Amino acid sequence: MEKLIIHGGNPLFGTVNISGSKNASLPILAATLLTRGECIIRRVPDVSDTNYMLQILQNLGADVERASGTVVVKCEKLKSHVAPYDLVRKMRASVCVMGPLLARHNRCDVSLPGGCVIGDRPIDLHLKGFEGLGAEATVEGGNIHLKARYGLQGGEVNMSGKYGTTVLGTDNVLMAAAIAKGTTVIKGAACEPEVVDLADFLNSMGAKITGAGTATITVEGVTELSGTEHVVIPDRIEAGTFMVAGALASESALKVNRINPKHLELITKVLRESGYQVDETADSLTVHRNPNGTGANIVTSPYPGFPTDMQAQMCALFATTEGESVVKDTIFPQRFMHLSEMKRMGADFEFDEGTAVIRGVEQLSGAPVMASDLRASAALVLAGLNAKGSTDIHRVYHIDRGYEGIDEKFRNIGARIDRVRE
Ligand code: EPU
Repeated sequence: MEKLIIHGGNPLFGTVNISGSKNASLPILAATLLTRGECIIRRVPDVSDTNYMLQILQNLGADVERASGTVVVKCEKLKSHVAPYDLVRKMRASVCVMGPLLARHNRCDVSLPGGCVIGDRPIDLHLKGFEGLGAEATVEGGNIHLKARYGLQGGEVNMSGKYGTTVLGTDNVLMAAAIAKGTTVIKGAACEPEVVDLADFLNSMGAKITGAGTATITVEGVTELSGTEHVVIPDRIEAGTFMVAGALASESALKVNRINPKHLELITKVLRESGYQVDETADSLTVHRNPNGTGANIVTSPYPGFPTDMQAQMCALFATTEGESVVKDTIFPQRFMHLSEMKRMGADFEFDEGTAVIRGVEQLSGAPVMASDLRASAALVLAGLNAKGSTDIHRVYHIDRGYEGIDEKFRNIGARIDRVRE
């Protein structure tokens, strides 16, 4: 195993180039199973989650080539309709092969992904969506069996549940409906830019999808999809993470480049309201440091609301900003493991029922801490950047799941970070 050692106090400067989106790449890679044609996908980040997905595709019979951000997938013949536990347990997002497998085979057996540290993460809404297209779902021996006896048939489905809509659930139904018979109307659909990117990818393969990016998506089923070429959208969460780094630890400012600022509107708004200057161009945001920045109140909600995937990083910022901040996560109310680790660095907070009240302290001090999940690890890196002394972050494999070359990117903008084996 490896750990990161962050030597706090080196101010950041310059420009950081953002990679392609992990959360857009994963369903897009799964969607390549819908065609026999060749799909060329550019700007796929080299992170362990995309590597797992490529392993799953190979296991299911796809030929995969990968070179510097470009992935070529061709799945002439699906070898299997089964995604076994060994593959699925490594990454929850592997459930998004269900839609394509069901659509191409009229059946699939996929191992249930199980819980994860950020919460329960059920898939009832995915199954409800498939049932709306005529599939029957049964769970046995830890596996989900889906069968569409008479083929998939378009219908009206609602993807909204107790915690709002579901991103990968919407993706799954979109993929299945693309080659189902007839028209599907998805109500309560997730509006995330990653869903829009998947719809754009499917449309470039010949699908007929309208309304992506709104709560109602209409899919007119087609008989076949063809190969295509696609460039994945920039990773808005990686971008947001570096924006917080600019606010928290830059010498004067940090430019976050090769992004779509429209996807980051709420993060920009919160930073501005907290006193940080943010300059915008068509493909960059520059965040200025402000030692007198103040706290804020944020409540996570589905896009265009404040992303749960940026909640931990904001906690790292608020840990040393003046005043009291209130952070509520309505999507994953248990996703606050980072706070207990930051407490070891001197953070002052109270936590109850999905809401953290954080009182900014003058400075954190470096300490050995444990990464518990992807975004919690990113928050610990941010906290370590201007803490006094060194912060050792153990279990760093969590961060490698979703941030491409994170230590190298931080080193390039002035941070002192070492990666060592332990
Ligand atoms: N939910 C249900 N039933 C379902 C599905 C979801 O109740 O069948 C609940 C979840 O428990 C949660 C809420 O609905 O409370 C939203 O979950 P969602 O299904 O939207 O999450 P996801 O699609 O599994 C994606 C991202 C996550 C991100 C969430 C929310 C990918 C690969 N993952 O997960 O990203 O937090 O949407 O925006 O796109 C990350 O990148 O660190 C990450 C966890």
